[in-house]
Amino acid sequence: MEKMPYREELDTQTVTASSRWQAVTSDWRAGLPVLCGKNVVLRELRLSDAPSLLAMLTTEEVTRFISPPPTTVEGFERFILWTHRQRASGSYVCYAVVPDGCNDAVGLFQVRQLDPTFGTAEWGFALGSPFWGSGIFAEAARLVVNFVFDTVGTHRLEARAAIANGRGNGALKKLGAVQEGILRKSLFRHGLYLDQVLWTILDEDWHLAKTGWPPRIH
Ligand SMILES: CC(C)(COP(=O)(O)OP(=O)(O)OC[C@H]1O[C@@H](n2cnc3c(N)ncnc32)[C@H](O)[C@@H]1OP(=O)(O)O)[C@@H](O)C(=O)NCCC(=O)NCCS
Repeated sequence: MEKMPYREELDTQTVTASSRWQAVTSDWRAGLPVLCGKNVVLRELRLSDAPSLLAMLTTEEVTRFISPPPTTVEGFERFILWTHRQRASGSYVCYAVVPDGCNDAVGLFQVRQLDPTFGTAEWGFALGSPFWGSGIFAEAARLVVNFVFDTVGTHRLEARAAIANGRGNGALKKLGAVQEGILRKSLFRHGLYLDQVLWTILDEDWHLAKTGWPPRIH
């Protein structure tokens, strides 16, 4: 994560930013709203999620193409407290993915601002592999994208996925993200620099796609 601006900077920017930003009012910085789907609930991380996150997100298949996660329960607890501080500062959001029948998080969606108004943002996500291909990702991702566009006020959401990450790229494509380019040698993993695909979703495309117009041509 890059260095985040100080609270004072954010306050100033809120006053001087575009009218679009000023029109968005929400107290998500005080605590994330719970987002409910048919088979999944998204909520703020809790310290009690740490053991489950350690079990789900530190396996070889999950970590292959992402920044290395913490390696201990205590490390995840520190991460969880950090997510709360970042959310309170208004620069970052982290949702826990809790499928029906579970109490604890089995995955995460992280969104961070790329500009001081959160107009552009970057997201990343990971799910425990027992839940891959279950439909949980697509359902949770739609809830997160709706939240980011409608409540946070973002208009452009970026994601980066290593070219070799078949599931990561497949998941983004399925959501309707657009491939804008290749970021050469932009991710260092396991002693190698990997090329990544830059994927984007714009709020206007997202809302149009929800109305079903224009129809998709395959
Ligand atoms: C990324 C992640 C959250 C997606 O969740 P998921 O449940 O695996 O995603 P889905 O199954 O809904 O979608 C993946 C799609 O990619 C497709 N896919 C799988 N392997 C593929 C490959 N090698 N090439 C192309 N597409 C592939 C799948 O078939 C699926 O599409 P379908 O539903 O039309 O069959 C999950 O795989 C994960 O946590 N991966 C590890 C962390 C990670 O890489 N995060 C992404 C960083 S960008």
